[in-house]
Amino acid sequence: MDIAVVGAGSLGSLLGGMLAREHDVTLVGREPHVGTVQREGLDVVGVESFRVDPAARTDVPDSADLAIVAVKSGDTAAAADALADCALDACLSVQNGIGNEETLAASLSCPVLAGTCTYGARLDGPGRVDFTGRGEVVLGPRAGGESAIADEVGAAFRAAGVETTVAADMPTRLWEKLAVNAAVNATTALARVENGALADGPGRELAADAARETARVARKAGIDLSDDRAVSLTERVVRDTAANRSSMLQDVAAGRRTEIDAINGYVADRAAGRAPVNETLTRLIRLWEARD
Ligand code: PAF
Repeated sequence: MDIAVVGAGSLGSLLGGMLAREHDVTLVGREPHVGTVQREGLDVVGVESFRVDPAARTDVPDSADLAIVAVKSGDTAAAADALADCALDACLSVQNGIGNEETLAASLSCPVLAGTCTYGARLDGPGRVDFTGRGEVVLGPRAGGESAIADEVGAAFRAAGVETTVAADMPTRLWEKLAVNAAVNATTALARVENGALADGPGRELAADAARETARVARKAGIDLSDDRAVSLTERVVRDTAANRSSMLQDVAAGRRTEIDAINGYVADRAAGRAPVNETLTRLIRLWEARD
């Protein structure tokens, strides 16, 4: 399969690197990462270590069988614009947050699949990505149900050794992932700790409260997500990615804007005053973002 990965940051580079073991992959990212991959290939180091030679560029190619969108949720509209003229059979979002698929679908004429990903990754420097936690990709039609293209993409991922489930209930899966991100990302970013620090003690309680509030908002939106399931999914991801620095912690450490608006901010807005933990986490991260 000819695959373009739009957003070759930590996760995009890890997924693109794994897929390049089996498929023709083009990483679309920024310099100096792109130039280093062009010259020297991509080193994946950690849970699995290997070297691959995907193509790399800073702009979107004219065509691909599949575009995987892995940009930050604040950059989805720009990615949709950039992909509008690319001839595609399908597009898959593996981003955090809710609503990315709708933004992509508004600009693209191909089917847009929804996806979640719990693999842990950290861009360690140009041309090198740390594989910090084995996880899973779950993908399927964005409105739920089944489709041949989702099955085909799932088979292509599995053939490259990416743990993948093709699911008929992506709307629920996206809210489950939102609960995990709401529990883990801002908490670890503010406390400057790895995901595993939320396995017990005060971090565990705080994460569980944020997950429960998200489940409550999900149920209001008609999604069948119990408090217990939101908490147990969070505990599983914390266990499986214990050594991972969450994407928000990586953003804060690098001085970058975070995805707070698409995660805890989204939950707090929807809860209209009934999600105090998500609201507080959002305010603290926004306070940090507003620094000079
Ligand atoms: O955003 C992240 O960091 C990841 O989605 C996850 C699953 C929380 C693991 O760190």
